[in-house]
Parts: sequence; C-alpha cells; structure tokens
Amino acid sequence: MAYIISEDAKDLLEDIKKFCDKEVREQSREFDKSGEWPAEIYKKAAELGYTALEVPEKYGGLGLSRVDIAALMEEMAKADAGFAVTISASGLGMKPVLIAGSEKQKEKVCNIVMEGGFSAFALTEPGAGSDAGSGRTVAVKDKDGYVLNGRKCFITNGGVADVYCITAMTDKEAGIKGISMFLVEKGTPGLSIGKDEDKMGIRCSNTCDVVLEDCRIPAENLIGEEGKGFKIAMQTLDQARTWMGCIATGIAQRAMEEAINYANQRVQFGKPIIKNQAIQFKIADMEIKVETARQMTVHSLTKMDMGLPFSMESAIAKCYASDIAMEVASDAIQIFGGYGYSREYPVEKFLRDAKIFQIFEGTNEIQRIVVASNMLNSRR
Ligand code: CAA
Repeated sequence: MAYIISEDAKDLLEDIKKFCDKEVREQSREFDKSGEWPAEIYKKAAELGYTALEVPEKYGGLGLSRVDIAALMEEMAKADAGFAVTISASGLGMKPVLIAGSEKQKEKVCNIVMEGGFSAFALTEPGAGSDAGSGRTVAVKDKDGYVLNGRKCFITNGGVADVYCITAMTDKEAGIKGISMFLVEKGTPGLSIGKDEDKMGIRCSNTCDVVLEDCRIPAENLIGEEGKGFKIAMQTLDQARTWMGCIATGIAQRAMEEAINYANQRVQFGKPIIKNQAIQFKIADMEIKVETARQMTVHSLTKMDMGLPFSMESAIAKCYASDIAMEVASDAIQIFGGYGYSREYPVEKFLRDAKIFQIFEGTNEIQRIVVASNMLNSRR
C-alpha cells in the first residue's frame, strides 16, 4: 500500500529510497555484525536533512505532516531498523521541549538538530523502567541553577547526542509530582557517557548509560515548570510510540518482501514454493497484519496532526505493530526454512530487530495498561 502523502513528501521519499539503497541497505549486515554506530552514514543523512524531519516548519523544518514522515520513516526502517530508530530518537529527544519548552529552548534544540546534531530523551534508570516515576536522579536548585546527580540507562543516542532532555527529582517527597524535565547540552561538565549496550538487534543504533555527576545547568534549562516532568515525559511517549509502530511496520514489510522473493525462487517438488497454498496463505496473513499495523499508525498520526487525542491510538499502534513484526519476521524465517535461520540470509536479523519494539518506549504490557486506562478513565 502506498501512503497518501504530499507531493513534497513523494519527492523526498524517492531521495530517501535512493539514499537508503546505496548507503544503508547494502551495509546493513556489516553494521549488524560490528555493532558500531556508522557515524559517516549518519553524518550524510543529517546533511541531507533526514535527521531533522520532525523539526516544525516554524523552526526551520520542512513542514511535512506526520503521515508524510511515516512514509519516510517506514522506508528507512525497511533498509535498517536501527538506522530508523536513530533518526526517530532524535525526534524523540526534541519532543519534551516542543511540548513544554520556552521559545528560546525550542529554537535552541531545533537549531542543534537542523545543523546535524542528535538529541536524546533520558527517562529510564536502572531501577525505574516500566515504573518510570520511581527514578532516583535528583536536581538540586541553588542560586545559580540546578545540580543534577544520577544515572540514566538504555538511552537511545545516549552516547552520540548533542542535546538531552533528562528527568530528575526536584522534590523527593512529592513522588511523581516531584519530577522535573531538564535540557542538558553535550559538553556540560558532569555529564558523561557510561556503558554502551551490546544489543541483540538494531545494532547500528547507539544505546548508552548517561551519567550525571554534579552536573550544573542554568535555571533556564528547566523545561516547563518544576514538578511537571512526569506529565511531559508521558506526553512525549504518547507521541513517540506511534513512530516505533511505524518502524516495526517497516521491519514486517521488508520481512514479507524478502519472503515473497525467496518463495518465488525456491523450487521444491518441481515448482516454486510460492505455488503452494500453504505459503500463499502465510503471505496473505503477513499482508493483512502489515497493512493493519500501517493503518493503525496512520490513524494515530492523523489524529496527532489534527490535534485530536491520540494516547490510546499511539499505544495500540506501537503494541500491535511490534507484535506483528515478530510474527511476520518469524513466518518469513519459516518460509526460508533452514536458510532463514542462517546469518547468510537477511531474515533472522528482522526477528532480532523486531524484539525490542515489544520492549522499549514502554513494554507491550505497559501499552495495554495505557489502553485500558484510556478506556476506563476516558482520558481521551
Ligand atoms: N499524558 C498526560 N498525563 C499523563 C499521561 C499521559 N499520557 N499518563 C499519565 N499521566 C499523568 C496522570 O494524569 C497523573 O497525573 P494526575 O495525578 O495529575 O492526574 C500522573 O501522570 C500519574 O499517572 P499514573 O498514575 O497513570 O502513573 P503511573 O505511575 O501509574 O504510570 C505508566 C503510568 C503508564 C505505567 C507510566 O509509568 C509508563 O508509561 N511507564 C512506561 C515508561 C516507558 O514507556 N519507558 C520508556 C522509556 S523511553 C524509551 O524507551 C526510549 C529509548 O530511548 C529507548
């Protein structure tokens, strides 16, 4: 299915396809083996503006709708999910500022990303994953600003970002209402990069601990008001989750395409295996799932674009698309048979890449909590 997108987005989609074919898809296996963050490729992508797709027009962006961006994001995900995650995480790192920041903060963060810099969103801590409100990072206010201490973990772009949005407690007694959100720039004394995760999939994305040791920032780096950090983080994740659904859809689409190609070529019992109804049914089921996931992401993004409530739709998109990405990748391996299990062929990587989409930006169990809470509390 083709997305219904603007003429500008169609042109950009062609450019991104060409870029991804040349720079990402071919090298994807090498990225996967080495686990390195391919800085040169990301630099090229940034120079072409691909890392700044989510910058609003007002701050120099292209003025694409979110549905336009979804088509581009899926294309990148088809080439390499880790590549798409890196691009998407740079949008994620800007969101707290775009949601609740001052004009000055918005200009600053958007400028950094427009100039090719990366952003990161740092909420998770070793003891605060699903229970995102239980973080122990603190921000103590003094006359010059805030001093941050703590450790964030599993931060996408954590080791490569130029700017971070970080949650910290400004009032330990107030629980969730004591959490605040801060802007911290790369190079701020006291900000350092910790453990770099050696991951199962999306290996060309960067996932690191971010360490704060007496990290002093000016008072103007508070995003929104003190105590509003948890809400801003939840609103950030509400938006971000659909993008994960979009990338998961891209993984599933690519897995399906590889399976169809293989089934057309692979001859057993004197005919290509695609001639078997068992294979055709599998492929039909794949398409039904992929298309449903895509439509769910488009629906969520359309609501976002229209300024309508989308928290539940975003959770559904992320949850459904990641679940079907696992199923479709697994079925693609099944169609490839023994070859599918071999690293010589591309499909086993899709299963490894897909798994994290059921986990990050809120596990799929958390997504079900979000869906249920929206249904029961009508927070829509
Ligand atoms: N929008 C606005 N406000 C919200 C909200 C939302 N979506 N969700 C909750 N809130 C508000 C509530 O209204 C409530 O405020 P009031 O008291 O003023 O009414 C407050 O936040 C607390 O809400 P809950 O009682 O529902 O909070 P909770 O502690 O039970 O947690 C949760 C809710 C949904 C489980 C939440 O903790 C959550 O989403 N957890 C998962 C965290 C997560 O997704 N982590 C991913 C990290 S980022 C990442 O993975 C990216 C990466 O780099 C890889």
